[in-house]
Amino acid sequence: MDDKILIIGSSGQIGTELVLKLRKIYGNENVIASDIRKGNYEVMESGPFELLDVMNKNDIAEVVEKYEIKQVYLMAAMLSAIAERNPKKAWDLNMNSLFNILDLAKDKIIDKIFWPSSIAVFGPDTPKMNTPQNTVIKPTTVYGISKLAGENWCAYYHKKYGVDVRSVRYPGVISYKTTPGGGTTDYAVEIFYEAIRKKCYKSFLTEDTTLPMMYMDDAIDATIKLMQVDKNKKYISYNIAAMSFSPKELSKVIKKYVPDFEMNYKPDSRQEIADSWPQSIDDSKANKDWNWKAKVDIDELVRSMLQGLHYTL
Ligand code: SER
Repeated sequence: MDDKILIIGSSGQIGTELVLKLRKIYGNENVIASDIRKGNYEVMESGPFELLDVMNKNDIAEVVEKYEIKQVYLMAAMLSAIAERNPKKAWDLNMNSLFNILDLAKDKIIDKIFWPSSIAVFGPDTPKMNTPQNTVIKPTTVYGISKLAGENWCAYYHKKYGVDVRSVRYPGVISYKTTPGGGTTDYAVEIFYEAIRKKCYKSFLTEDTTLPMMYMDDAIDATIKLMQVDKNKKYISYNIAAMSFSPKELSKVIKKYVPDFEMNYKPDSRQEIADSWPQSIDDSKANKDWNWKAKVDIDELVRSMLQGLHYTL
């Protein structure tokens, strides 16, 4: 029998699509979606769903027992921009949620965990271009600090208690099924809605702010691929990369398909966060260790987004 899988944060941007893909691979009944709020219609209709607060250890334990869960994908988190407005709350949520799941594995109740890290672990002292797997890691945002601490705790639980936990450092993830909430890379999703609806978009990052980005299909592939690797000898939170672009570069590609599209720029507090992050990422370690390679480039990303949002190309 296949392992039963629990996704926590199934109504979020990545959680939504992860549930749908995992249900396709492992069967609808084997993949339990859970979140603090109900989510996407497809997720709610295609298999089991539980209302679950990731801060409530007992409720998580009950759901794990009820379905005999063996694997958990912990996708609930407070993202970078929102976290700056609620530092203490972000720290509590991002850390306690992780401990709640790590402890279930330490106690041998579950066997395997996926926990996402982010390019936000890097800070202004990190080399900006082709940022290596191992480099200066001194984040200056609350979100980045919580992700770095999380990486260190995962490594600790792996070494000390043999916990099988796996991670990637996601770049900005672009998708159309569920919008992201509270991140610094969100502009690259919002822009598509506004391009279709209003033919113009006011970017909260300057025109030349280049950041690492990835289409959702690649992010999901990386996640599932890493979880399918046979053994997890050493805990590594892998750099993964697909493309890098600035708001101006993205708007140029959108203009190919929406010719009267116009961009304006009015940077806000998110600019400072973006300025502290890398512009491009070296993911050769993931490529070597588990054969990872992104497939979707900027042109295909733009086409898929516009089509996904029902714009006729
Ligand atoms: N996309 C995230 C954010 O902008 C980065 O992990 O916060």
